[in-house]
Amino acid sequence: MKRTLTSQGKPFTFSPKNQKKVTEIISQYPVTRQASAILPLLDLAQRQAEGWLPQEAIEHVAELLKISPIRAYEIATFYTMFNLSPRGKYLLQVCTTTPCQLVGSDEILQACNQTADVEQGEISKDGLFTVFEVECLGACVNAPVVQINDDYFEDLNAERMLNILNDLKLGKQVKPGSTIGRQCSAAYEGPHHEKEDV
Ligand code: FES
Repeated sequence: MKRTLTSQGKPFTFSPKNQKKVTEIISQYPVTRQASAILPLLDLAQRQAEGWLPQEAIEHVAELLKISPIRAYEIATFYTMFNLSPRGKYLLQVCTTTPCQLVGSDEILQACNQTADVEQGEISKDGLFTVFEVECLGACVNAPVVQINDDYFEDLNAERMLNILNDLKLGKQVKPGSTIGRQCSAAYEGPHHEKEDV
């Protein structure tokens, strides 16, 4: 995946509400170690910028932490959780690593691509969706898995994926987690309890 910086064409500053959060976050670090606040500050900047991190936001965070811009660029371009170009309202990260692939991630990716109807990484015409194929999301027990913004949707099949996407299009709330009602990562038939000795 190409990870290059994108300008938003205007300066970035934190909103007054987020500026308070910035102060709080920085205060959690020792005075000589405040550069370590870079990850939460970049995350906050990304949330303020509606899901992506403009070059100006990265530079603003570097300035706040008194570090050189190149150090902030290195971090922002390393972690794929930072989106370096605009994305749709819903970022669909479809896991296609082996455990998900073995239980149907191909058809889920197809459902997402059909709905977005644009190339991977582009924004759908209605502005709602951007699709990325990603490596293991670390929830293989509940494969196949798709991450939509901050939430995981698990135990998917094409039909349930399409239902979720249609609900998002209609502006409905969707419930994260297992789509078959599985309790966390318990067995399909529910948690097992060892018999107590009698
Ligand atoms: S392989 Fe898909 S979550 Fe691990």
